[in-house]
Order: sequence, then structure tokens, then C-alpha cells
Amino acid sequence: MRLLDRFGLQDRVAVVTGASAGLGVAFAAGLADAGADVVLGARREERLADTAKLVAAAGRRSVAVTTDVAKPDDCRRLVDAAMEAFGRVDILVNNAGIGTAVPATKETVEQFEQVIDVNLNGCYWMAQACGRVMRPGSSIVNIASVLGLTTAGLPQAAYSASKAGLMGLTRDLAQQWGGRKGIRVNSLAPGFFASEMTEQYRPGYLEEQLRRAPLGRVGDPDELTAALLLLASDAGGYITGQTLVVDGGLSLA
Ligand SMILES: NC(=O)c1ccc[n+]([C@@H]2O[C@H](COP(=O)([O-])OP(=O)(O)OC[C@H]3O[C@@H](n4cnc5c(N)ncnc54)[C@H](OP(=O)(O)O)[C@@H]3O)[C@@H](O)[C@H]2O)c1
Repeated sequence: MRLLDRFGLQDRVAVVTGASAGLGVAFAAGLADAGADVVLGARREERLADTAKLVAAAGRRSVAVTTDVAKPDDCRRLVDAAMEAFGRVDILVNNAGIGTAVPATKETVEQFEQVIDVNLNGCYWMAQACGRVMRPGSSIVNIASVLGLTTAGLPQAAYSASKAGLMGLTRDLAQQWGGRKGIRVNSLAPGFFASEMTEQYRPGYLEEQLRRAPLGRVGDPDELTAALLLLASDAGGYITGQTLVVDGGLSLA
């Protein structure tokens, strides 16, 4: 096999959560481009239909399932739909996430719990559901954040805790499932990429933060998808339990 062919995902089946917007759309399209059929989950059904068109344009099949990852039953239904449609799940991209910025003394129980429910617990429910059906050689990629490693001038206790927790979850599932099940588990920690999440920042915030990063610009989603393909494919066959930071050097500061 040529080295470059190891990045290929011909006839693999990938589940992508948060596939209705932002990075999840780029991930779904990139996985399809690499040869995978893609199972799409998020709450906004009509937006999933748009992502399905991108998968079809790459010549691959997709199934879209309305999913709230904070609900374990929804996560099981998404994986059941994947098994029903394609008979296997080779890749899980745990991408669904929400961001908030609330000062710690003002943050309500509900606000904090919602972020943890989606960003951390949701990834665990999805990993559990996939881990039960995945075969040796499968790969789980959790989309964490540099904010699991550093801070960026906003009050983001819930978000930072959820993403740091996700890195811990990654390590533990990697050690539980690596040898016994042959499933690799890794995280990606993105810096700033344009999306609905980053549109909510106050004017000037992004420019201030990017001054910290040696590369001094936001990332292109394709630059993150390329890293995803490394971790999802056989090219990353000896990488497990790791967090790969893709942030233009932001976290060096
Ligand atoms: N963009 C960045 O700069 C950046 C940096 C670091 C990390 N990240 C991480 O990358 C991931 C994607 O972020 P993004 O920037 O693409 O954000 P985005 O544009 O806001 O998209 C978030 C996605 O998550 C889905 N989602 C939210 N809550 C959900 C729930 N309860 N159940 C299922 N899906 C849910 C949304 O779909 P619905 O609303 O349709 O459910 C949407 O598809 C997140 O985990 C985020 O923390 C992003």
C-alpha cells in the first residue's frame, strides 16, 4: 500500500455529531471525500439535509438523524440508524458542542450543566454506543479545544472544564479499548476556526487573541479536517490516547 493510500477511508462508515453547521459540515464533507459513508447527527434536521447534499456530491451515501447528544437514548438511536443503514461503524467524530462565556459568580446551575451535558457527557454517550458495535481498527476522534489547555480572556469555566474533561475521557477510553477492542481514541484541540460559535465574539476579540498565535490567523476548516483524517484513518494506526493541537501555535503563549 502506498503511504498516501493509508489516509483513504474507502467504504468505511463514519458518524459525525454536530454535522449541521460549522466544523461538523467540513468534517462530514472531508470524510466523504476520503471515501467514507457518513451518518449525520444534530438537532436541526433541515441543516443536516444540506450536509447530506455535500456527502452525495462526493459520491458517498449518508443518513441523517435528528439527535440531541445530551440524551443517551438519542445517541443510541443514531448508532442504531448507522448499523441499520450500513451494518458497521468505523469512525466516530464527537464534534457537537456549545460555547458559553458567563462570569463564574453569575453562572447558573442550568447554564453550567448544559455545557457539560453536551460537550462532555454527550461525547461519552456517543462513545459508549459506538464502542459496543465498533470492530478492531475503528477510531474515535473527540473534538476538544485549546481551551482545555489554556485560557483566552473570556469567563469560560464550563467550556474549558468540558474540553479538559474530554481529553481525560480520551485517555481513559484509549486505555480501556486499545488492546481489548482494537479501537483507537484521540482528541483534536482546535484553536480559532470561523463558525457560528466564533461569530458570537465581540468585535475585536478574535484579532486580540490571534496576536498570541505565531501563525496570526484563524484556521481554515480544511486544515483541521486534514488532521482529522490522520487520526481517523489507518495513517494514524499507531496513535492513541493523544490530543493533537491544531491552533496556529496559539497555546504556546
Ligand atoms: N470553531 C472554533 O473555533 C472551535 C475551536 C475549538 C473547538 N471547537 C469545537 O468544535 C466543535 C464544533 O464547533 P463549531 O465551531 O463548528 O460550532 P457551531 O458552528 O456552533 O456548530 C456546533 C454544532 O454542534 C451541534 N450541536 C449543538 N448542541 C447539540 C446537541 N445538544 N446535540 C447535537 N448537536 C448539537 C450544532 O447543531 P444543532 O444546533 O443543529 O444541534 C452544530 O451542528 C465544538 O465541539 C466546539 O467546541 C470549535
